[in-house]
Amino acid sequence: MGTVRATRLVKTFGPVVAVNDLSLEAKAGEFLTLLGPSGCGKTTTLRLIAGLEKPDRGEIHVGDRLVSSPGAGLFVPPEQRGMGMVFQSYAIWPHMTVFENVAFPLEELRRPRAEVRERVMTILATVGLGGMHARPAPMLSGGQQQRVALARALVSNPQVLLLDEPLSNLDARLREEMRFELRDMQARLGITSIFVTHDQAEAMTLSDRIIVMSGGRIEQEGSPEAVYQRPSTRFVMDFLGRANQLPARVEKRPDGWIAVVDGHGSELALGEGDWADKQEVLLAFRPEGVEACAAERDGAWIGVVRSSVYVGGRVEYVVDLGGFTVRATGPEDPRLPCDARAALRVSPRAVRVWPRDPEQTGTNGGPAR
Ligand SMILES: Nc1ncnc2c1ncn2[C@@H]1O[C@H](COP(=O)(O)OP(=O)(O)OP(=O)(O)O)[C@@H](O)[C@H]1O
Ligand SMILES: [Mg+2]
Repeated sequence: MGTVRATRLVKTFGPVVAVNDLSLEAKAGEFLTLLGPSGCGKTTTLRLIAGLEKPDRGEIHVGDRLVSSPGAGLFVPPEQRGMGMVFQSYAIWPHMTVFENVAFPLEELRRPRAEVRERVMTILATVGLGGMHARPAPMLSGGQQQRVALARALVSNPQVLLLDEPLSNLDARLREEMRFELRDMQARLGITSIFVTHDQAEAMTLSDRIIVMSGGRIEQEGSPEAVYQRPSTRFVMDFLGRANQLPARVEKRPDGWIAVVDGHGSELALGEGDWADKQEVLLAFRPEGVEACAAERDGAWIGVVRSSVYVGGRVEYVVDLGGFTVRATGPEDPRLPCDARAALRVSPRAVRVWPRDPEQTGTNGGPAR
């Protein structure tokens, strides 16, 4: 059973609380990603799971087996946890061949020679390095080194694969290619994987589920679509791609609540909700959630095009809306010129409405709808 369950993990380094009461579960066969900005505790969490760090508090189970519990005085060392790990620096041994690098973990376990050879050749084929076993490690490209590291992590048939920014040393094109290969291989092997990255696009394309972290804690977890489309905090909204944010005020109308953009008067229907009259809110929405077009429609917000870029099939606009900047998208044809009036149609479903509170940094409190 390749599940991993961490319960209320705490890890401090002197005054720094790197992991702060964090609980997570990776289901069998799942590709789970820890996503967050630099220093938020991703690597530390992964190292705690791997057994490369000891938690101050909390417990870690692999399947039904307890592998870490300071309370119970229990700590299973990394090599006995049935996990494979790939780091950002692949840590390939330069004086060894591909075969020797990959065989190393099995040699450590003193497996019979015939078994070692069979396993290594099989896993090299799996990661796309068939026929390259005799190649000296220094004679490998970045992508090939990455594959060697992956093969070495997988060769002893781990139940769980831990990956710490394994693609970030590759150039952009190779990184994208390896993303798909990694995902494909993970699915074929059905191996439970926990992947760490600060790259939201990488997290979106690879993951079954994403855990967004900040300050050693979990901000939100869910499918890539859920965290992107329905961020539950402003931190998540900001971190996962670009977001427009407009200050507005809530008003009661006979047919329900509306939000009126500050100083501009554009209105957005909020429908039913737990609002107070005149409550100050922030309307947050992604550029894809607002369409710019020339024709003025009922309920459209009217702004002025400041600039635009063609992004392949669509145009992204920067529109001035009464002094606020709104990023919007529109069809490539007709393309609105600079200084043209633009009607912005905002899909209410695409808008998140947060209470506006000067004290609130956006890292706590959920959305109001
Ligand atoms: N061995 C250590 N000694 C002291 N502080 C540490 C140690 N390891 C991590 N930290 C601190 O703990 C916090 C979390 O670090 P961690 O490496 O887990 O972050 P991260 O999310 O992986 O960041 P990055 O994206 O930059 O790799 C940081 O403030 C870091 O400085
Ligand atoms: Mg890290």
